[in-house]
Amino acid sequence: MDRIRIRGGAPLNGLIPISGAKNAALPLMIASLLTEDTLELGNVPRLADISSLLRIMSNFGLDHSIAGRRPGQSSETGQTIRLTAKSIIDTCAPYELVSTMRASFWVIAPLVARFGHAKVSMPGGCAIGTRPVDLLIMALARLGAAIEIEGGYVIATAPKGLRGGEIDFPKVTVGGTHVALMAATLAQGTTVIRNAAREPEVVDLAECLVKMGARITGAGTSEIVIEGVSSLNGASHDVMPDRIETGTYAMAVAMAGGDLVLENTRPDYLQAALDVLAQAGAEISPTHSGIRVRRNGNGIQAVDVTTDPFPGFPTDLQAQFMALMTRASGTSRIRETIFENRFMHVQELARLGAHIRLDGDCAYVEGVPGLKGAPVMATDLRASVSLVIAGLVAEGETTINRVYHLDRGFEALEAKLARCGAEIERLRG
Ligand code: EPU
Repeated sequence: MDRIRIRGGAPLNGLIPISGAKNAALPLMIASLLTEDTLELGNVPRLADISSLLRIMSNFGLDHSIAGRRPGQSSETGQTIRLTAKSIIDTCAPYELVSTMRASFWVIAPLVARFGHAKVSMPGGCAIGTRPVDLLIMALARLGAAIEIEGGYVIATAPKGLRGGEIDFPKVTVGGTHVALMAATLAQGTTVIRNAAREPEVVDLAECLVKMGARITGAGTSEIVIEGVSSLNGASHDVMPDRIETGTYAMAVAMAGGDLVLENTRPDYLQAALDVLAQAGAEISPTHSGIRVRRNGNGIQAVDVTTDPFPGFPTDLQAQFMALMTRASGTSRIRETIFENRFMHVQELARLGAHIRLDGDCAYVEGVPGLKGAPVMATDLRASVSLVIAGLVAEGETTINRVYHLDRGFEALEAKLARCGAEIERLRG
């Protein structure tokens, strides 16, 4: 297995191009199952999760092609993928495939909406919490799907098609909103989704669905209204920039010091996180195509943070922010409200010399003057990258094991950081 080795101490200076968002690309790819025409997606990141989802959807009979690289494009320029779900021969997603990636469960929505039948394995637990799918199933049932759970599979049927309905989510769920949105586009009549997720990835999906002929209003607010149509058509759509990758590099430069321009991204996608970083001592300014983040000389201040659905501080940046707070002056309280077990990075950060105390859903991080390199590993994507951020300032050498977690969600991570001055390299295993 590959490892990443970092020698801490170098500041970050230069420019990092931000990739297309994994968490937008995945539902957009799944939306291609709603039509027999071709959906062309640009700015798709080169990530293990994208390849896994392509494999799962190919099993259904989906055809896909990936456009070759054009002259002048680097390996970090997003790829263009064409997806055609014309001859779907199977509407079953087996356990072996769904268990590798939770988001693949979302295929249940387009399959039952378009074909009247879907059998998808329950995704099971994962490292960051139990992550049930009860609300996704509730949404499909509200649209008239008959639901059975048998042998670990969710079987959704609607032989006469789905019909519009009212879906009130008792808590904000990104996956639930994606599923409800996709299913409702082909349902007969009007659907209202209340307490919908307002994440930019939901808006990106809705914009693509509208290009495909769907009738959707209110995406980006907590009430989305969908007028069902009888069929959707093909379209061409570029995946939005990755706000979590953007925030991760912003925290990396706040930690290491230096001056980074993050290109092809948007500050309004992560304003809450940028506000917190500014309070912590980073200087942040918009550029014509992204964000400039600097920290020169001044120290990092402790700031308290609570994760929340968008537009709040994202749970997917909590681990990275905790890494930053390990070096702050003072103690910061970090409260995780989205997932019940998203603190696995705490014990690994402690191996680097961090002082962190856990109490229920809160972590109290007491800043220390220095971290020391050590071998570490993590069990999920965002936790792994928090160790990279800590490694950037840890004295000596930090080796991060289980790099496949990083490859699921960060495109060309070590190349992007190395070009800006970090001493970071991949050791092939
Ligand atoms: N929940 C339920 N029942 C459900 C669905 C969700 O109780 O049926 C709970 C979850 O257990 C969690 C909360 O609701 O406590 C929110 O979960 P949500 O459904 O919003 O999460 P998700 O759709 O499974 C997406 C991202 C996550 C991100 C969360 C929250 C993708 C592919 N995944 O997950 O991203 O943390 O939204 O913003 O979009 C990551 O990229 O590392 C990652 C974990």
